[in-house]
Amino acid sequence: MKKVYLDNAATTPLDKEVLDAMLPFMTEHFGNPSSIHGFGRQTRAAIEGARKIVAKLLNVSPSEIFFTSGGTEADNMAIHCSVNDLGVTHLITSPIEHHAVLHTCEALAASGKVKLDYVKLTPNGHIDLAHLEGLLAANKSSKSLVTLMHANNEIGNLLPLKKTSEICAKYNAVFHSDTVQTMAHYAMDLKDLGVHFVNAGAHKFHGPKGVGFIYVSSDVKIHPIIHGGSQERNMRGGTENLYGIIGLAKAMEIAYRDMKEHQEHVQGIKTYMIEQLEKNIPGISFNGDVKGSSLYTVLNVCFPPTDNAEMLLFNLDIAGIAASGGSACTSGSNVGSHVLKGICSDMNRPSIRFSFSKYNTKEEIDYVVAKLKEIFTVKKTQTA
Ligand SMILES: Cc1ncc(COP(=O)(O)O)c(C=O)c1O
Repeated sequence: MKKVYLDNAATTPLDKEVLDAMLPFMTEHFGNPSSIHGFGRQTRAAIEGARKIVAKLLNVSPSEIFFTSGGTEADNMAIHCSVNDLGVTHLITSPIEHHAVLHTCEALAASGKVKLDYVKLTPNGHIDLAHLEGLLAANKSSKSLVTLMHANNEIGNLLPLKKTSEICAKYNAVFHSDTVQTMAHYAMDLKDLGVHFVNAGAHKFHGPKGVGFIYVSSDVKIHPIIHGGSQERNMRGGTENLYGIIGLAKAMEIAYRDMKEHQEHVQGIKTYMIEQLEKNIPGISFNGDVKGSSLYTVLNVCFPPTDNAEMLLFNLDIAGIAASGGSACTSGSNVGSHVLKGICSDMNRPSIRFSFSKYNTKEEIDYVVAKLKEIFTVKKTQTA
């Protein structure tokens, strides 16, 4: 059976070049990086080499990069450390953040440690920056953390990072942006952007799962939330995910090396799918600012109403097509997408997120659109 993987915002396949870079660190180079003997010194040097690669690509110092278990841990770290160490008593986020941010903010607010405000969205699902400024102005007497994602993982809307960081700077607020969906997809000069924290998960850019990093600007001084050994310069206890870190740095190097080609290819796939869907399925529309400021890997499609909405993903799966009904991290739960609710998408119409990678082809899109056409044509006949 043909298999088409269009769920790359959930995770991407590991690049073979990345695997090749990792393999020696699963076999002959196995020393604990904290050991002082030769085996350990060798792997310590490899980790520090990986840190230098990441830092150079982002135009920051290696001392500002800390490896983590992934995007979720780094989101938790940015938010908890802001409250614990930076005097933050007021959080501003949006109703359409990833749960790694939303649930962390909500837990802190429930504990009574902080006041939590949600910034409003514009009609096409962007952050209302005027409202953000209003919230900061109204809370001048408290130290605020603004935590807003760079690209929404369900609808792809992009936040203007520089503009947002300038607003935060005006009110002396700490700024964290969850960049899990955009890291290694766009070139970022973090010094120029003026953010305090950004983060990444390697599995979103053809690296391994279970490893990521947080960038912590040298302008802020924080303390660990995971206590233990002196790893990560005393910032995160626990033996490092050695081969994961090697794979992350390799994946990032490849992403930067091939970025232009990759962006053009993937944007081409997305544009082609939009055209084909509009041509073949009457009544289709898209969630988010799909033809405006939108991440090139994500396309959230709102289908015409159908009696078998809940069977749509299942029918695609039967045809070998992997897509997602929302955020992968909540698929399997019956709760509808908080992002689609947040942007007031028509919840009576089924929505599917298709997300693309460098491995997808236009032929795959033709296959998917043909299957969708079949599903919707059959449904029409059945309900006629
Ligand atoms: C925007 C965003 N933030 C955070 C995460 C969590 O990252 P990880 O799976 O590396 O913990 C994800 C994963 O889907 C995401 O899309």
